[in-house]
Amino acid sequence: MGSQEKKRFIAANWKMHSKPSEALALAFELTDGLEDTNTEVVICAPFTHLDRLNSLKSKGIILGAQNCHFADKGAYTGEISATMLSDLGCQYVIIGHSERRNLDTAESIPLRIEQAIAAGLKVIFCCGEPLHYRKVHQEWEFVLSQLNHDFDKIEASHFPKIVIAYEPIWAIGTGLTASPQQAQEMHKNIRKWAENKFGILDAMQLRILYGGSVKASNSMELAAMHDIDGVLVGGASLIPIEFRGIIRAFS
Ligand code: 13P
Repeated sequence: MGSQEKKRFIAANWKMHSKPSEALALAFELTDGLEDTNTEVVICAPFTHLDRLNSLKSKGIILGAQNCHFADKGAYTGEISATMLSDLGCQYVIIGHSERRNLDTAESIPLRIEQAIAAGLKVIFCCGEPLHYRKVHQEWEFVLSQLNHDFDKIEASHFPKIVIAYEPIWAIGTGLTASPQQAQEMHKNIRKWAENKFGILDAMQLRILYGGSVKASNSMELAAMHDIDGVLVGGASLIPIEFRGIIRAFS
């Protein structure tokens, strides 16, 4: 372990769920009674909710967003910049979620990461293979190509500001979870890749999250794996009893 303590990391990805008027009450319910756990809890809410969630800080909950634009400003109707997110009190932004990769070009992902970091945000970077690659045992090759492409030009000094989430596409919202062993194997490969590219200290400090049908009932066994430092949670992050159970499993 490096010099700093590496806190376990639980991130909620609300995707396009809930209403702004319900957001604060939901966030409080999701974390009720768990403010003192020794974990980092981040809620990545839709853009429209962020301003209303600003007071989460007082409860020790960190605010995050689900994407940012690849330019810092300009004539991009309907888009949101990293600077805007930072100004609203966000500390994290998800980049490269598979549900966004379908809509964005691959070339834009490194630019989004750079914009986020330049604006003072930290990044939850998502990677993960489609089912076909898993079936033919090419899941690591697929993830490696995403990592190599998206981090090709990232400055080494920026790497500590990044958390990597491994989210196999076939496990997202399907109820199918990668087994703890499958996730561990992938996380170990990702850490090794980080070591080769950025050095052993950064690799050891790197938080690698698993995402894909995480629930309270499967989080204990995920939390027991050596290279699983936390989770990125979709559906279960909208259900207080589930999300609290997940935080407890990683505490
Ligand atoms: P589910 O937890 O709903 O499978 O979603 C995972 C995810 O995409 C989190 O970013």
